Amino acid sequence: MNLDRRHFLHSSLVLGSSAGLAGLTALGGLSGLVGPTGQALAAPMFADNPTFQPRALMATWQRDPTTTMTLQWLGTSKEDGLSRNLWYRRSGDDAWLEVPHTARPFPQTELWQFRAELTGLAPDTTYRIRIGLDSPQASIRTMPAKATSEITFISGGDSGTGSASRRTNKLAALQSPRFVLLGGDLAYENGKSADTFLKFLDHYAADLRDDKGHLIPLVACLGNHEVDGAYDKPREKAPFFYAMFDGLYTDTGYATLDFGDYLSLVLLDSGHTSKVVGDQTDWLLRTLKEREERPNLFVANHVPMYPCVRSANGSLNEAMREHWSPLLERYNVDAVLEHHDHAFKRTHRLLDGLIDERGIPYLGDGSWGQIRNPEGPDKRPFLAKSTQSYHLSLHRIEGPDRYHLALSDLGKVVDILHTRKLART
Ligand SMILES: [Fe+2]
Ligand SMILES: [Fe+2]
Repeated sequence: MNLDRRHFLHSSLVLGSSAGLAGLTALGGLSGLVGPTGQALAAPMFADNPTFQPRALMATWQRDPTTTMTLQWLGTSKEDGLSRNLWYRRSGDDAWLEVPHTARPFPQTELWQFRAELTGLAPDTTYRIRIGLDSPQASIRTMPAKATSEITFISGGDSGTGSASRRTNKLAALQSPRFVLLGGDLAYENGKSADTFLKFLDHYAADLRDDKGHLIPLVACLGNHEVDGAYDKPREKAPFFYAMFDGLYTDTGYATLDFGDYLSLVLLDSGHTSKVVGDQTDWLLRTLKEREERPNLFVANHVPMYPCVRSANGSLNEAMREHWSPLLERYNVDAVLEHHDHAFKRTHRLLDGLIDERGIPYLGDGSWGQIRNPEGPDKRPFLAKSTQSYHLSLHRIEGPDRYHLALSDLGKVVDILHTRKLART
């Protein structure tokens, strides 16, 4: 039975099949539709023994994570990929819904990329997914509508595709975070090596499932190794990053992701395809001003404002400190997540470059799968701590309290920081 979208609707109208009615529910928004005897509608005829595995199946977001989810995967044939409907159902419900998906060529390969965005989902809810009738069931979980119970997410950066990155991937999955935020230098393909980028995607898709099997969504920032030329280049020079994440970064290398009214991520482009000074700084001012009252307001950038390995006096570091740090302080940002230097660091709370309890901690510096030997607080007084350690950061939000744990790739606790929203003075 051919279940492409047009045939599917046609057969449902002609035959009045219950599976067809489920499709109409999805397409027409007729929620709550039930079969003639009042039971939930019958499921599509999924294969008993799935034989098709969508490549690099990944969840991410382009809008509010409390009610949406974007799914992407790769395939070798446009026609085959489009003929496999994306089915989803709320866990506990019997009725499967269908959502259309798009296809486009994946850069510098013969592959096709498929994307669908699920919208109007219930918060804090598990959904089951099938791609075509012959793929295994996968599952996703939306974010809670309110931060009423504990929420955890993981951040880090500078992964690559080596053995350390796989260890950190697996350690991340063991924490069952709601999502992972990677702040640039994902694959180290430099905008040129499709094989390297595909390897990163395959690793992520294989490794990042939580303890209940949910896909762990990936939110990403742009780093220099996403870009052919690293700095000050047009977005066409970062073809793989934008292929994956242009649902969020529609026009620029910077964006925000707002989780209901309790968490905002402000994701910056540290000079790779957007200049620091000018439009991005103007946007940052407006964006932070609108989110000043958010109980959890985090900023992420790839190149650090307060680096622990490379010179802190580079023109880019200085430009970000001059133009961005005052805005972060003015609008009460809770923490800045930094990367690029390949070590663990935590700064003191900093205000105008000086240690001040009313200031902001900068956490980094990107050692998911890359490592360097950092300078210590003796050489750089803004540092509270630094170590040569692969690490991820586990952020746990518990009401007004936040705990930021740095874990090494072997699971050792490298650092722990407790924060609360600072009262405005
Ligand atoms: Fe970097
Ligand atoms: Fe890096």
